Amino acid sequence: MQLLKIEGGDRLSGELDLQGAKNSVLPLISACVLTGGITRLTRCPELSDVYAALRILSSLGCKCRLSDGCAEIDARTLSGCEIGDKLMRQMRSSIIFMGALLGAVGECVMSFPGGCELGPRPIDMHISALRQLGAEITDEHGRLICRCPKGLHGCTVNLPFPSVGATENIMLAAVCAEGETVIVNAAREPEIAELGRFLNFCGARIKGAGCHRVVIEGVPRAELHGCEFEVMPDRIAAATYLCAAAASGGEAHIRGARVCDLEAVTNVLRQSGCRVTASGSGIYICAPPLLRCVNTVRTCPYPGFPTDAQAIVMAAFAKSKGMGLFVEDIFENRFRHVDELVRMGADIKTEGRVAVVRGVDRLTGAQVSAPDLRGGAALCVAACAAEGETTVSNVCYIDRGYDSIEKALGALGAKIRRV
Ligand code: UD1
Repeated sequence: MQLLKIEGGDRLSGELDLQGAKNSVLPLISACVLTGGITRLTRCPELSDVYAALRILSSLGCKCRLSDGCAEIDARTLSGCEIGDKLMRQMRSSIIFMGALLGAVGECVMSFPGGCELGPRPIDMHISALRQLGAEITDEHGRLICRCPKGLHGCTVNLPFPSVGATENIMLAAVCAEGETVIVNAAREPEIAELGRFLNFCGARIKGAGCHRVVIEGVPRAELHGCEFEVMPDRIAAATYLCAAAASGGEAHIRGARVCDLEAVTNVLRQSGCRVTASGSGIYICAPPLLRCVNTVRTCPYPGFPTDAQAIVMAAFAKSKGMGLFVEDIFENRFRHVDELVRMGADIKTEGRVAVVRGVDRLTGAQVSAPDLRGGAALCVAACAAEGETTVSNVCYIDRGYDSIEKALGALGAKIRRV
């Protein structure tokens, strides 16, 4: 089992190049089945979730290679439409192969997806939307059998909640559907806008991706082709490294970070006393010796405060002056990092979807276990501020979303090693 050992308590200072975004590259990889051509994704992060997505593509007959930050996917040899149970369970994003495969070949067979335990993660909105587009989906002993005997046809889909995954699935299915599809109450995350941009590069006709209302005009699949595309920078990884610098009272320059994607997080850091500025090539942060805890952080769909940054920002405020509330409105069970932070000396109490953080003067290193991807990153942030050595186990969760977190934090001056 791999562990991260972090010797904290020193002020971080340094700069790093930001990795490509996990939540953007995964839908792009599944979109490759639609293009039927060769696609090169540059700035592709080397993450276990990316390898899992590429294994799914390989199992469908595509040829995939990932080296030196470039994923090359040849979808001309796509030959299957069935994804095995083991592959499906490796991550939540496997569900977006449903829309892509239905759009590409009109059928697929898969089981329910896996992913981090953040409470119940149903796929009812995905299934209902794809049915509205003409798919017939049945659940046979845990296997989802999806067909569209009359093809997919455009329609207006009103989402009851702006689900990121459901919006992506509808976009993927609608690219080659007959006629026009309109998504109302679509998710507006920057990763949705990127998926639209990528698909348009490949020949799709999508307008409004990243807005409330997305319009997709179906094109014949033969008009789609592969392309070369640079994966957008990872806003949650950026938030992690900004918070690590802030928690240690240090400074950092995150090259490649886009200010426009991160306003909800940088606003909170500014309120806590940090100087956060856009530098020509990224974001620069300079933190006071002790952060001031902000009153309330409430997670919301984009452009609100991202649920993926909740644990990470909470970890930065574990050592701070003052008191604050964290309200988790997206997922039911996303406070599993709290017990681990408490082992490091944090004073945090939870009740339902609310966590009350009372800032302490001092955190101390401890043996902690990553409860999930972002919870694990949060422990690394707190460890940078804690005196003495912290050992983080269950590093496999962190590796789902961070391309060598130890290298990135090391570049900021953290004493961190993987053993
Ligand atoms: C994506 C992100 C994840 C992020 C989340 C919210 C990827 C790979 N993952 O996850 O990192 O935390 O957005 O920003 O991009 N829901 C339903 N029924 C559905 C679908 C969703 O009830 O059919 C609920 C979920 O349980 C959750 C909420 O809607 O409570 C938001 O989920 P959603 O936006 O779909 O998140 P994901 O796409 O799974």
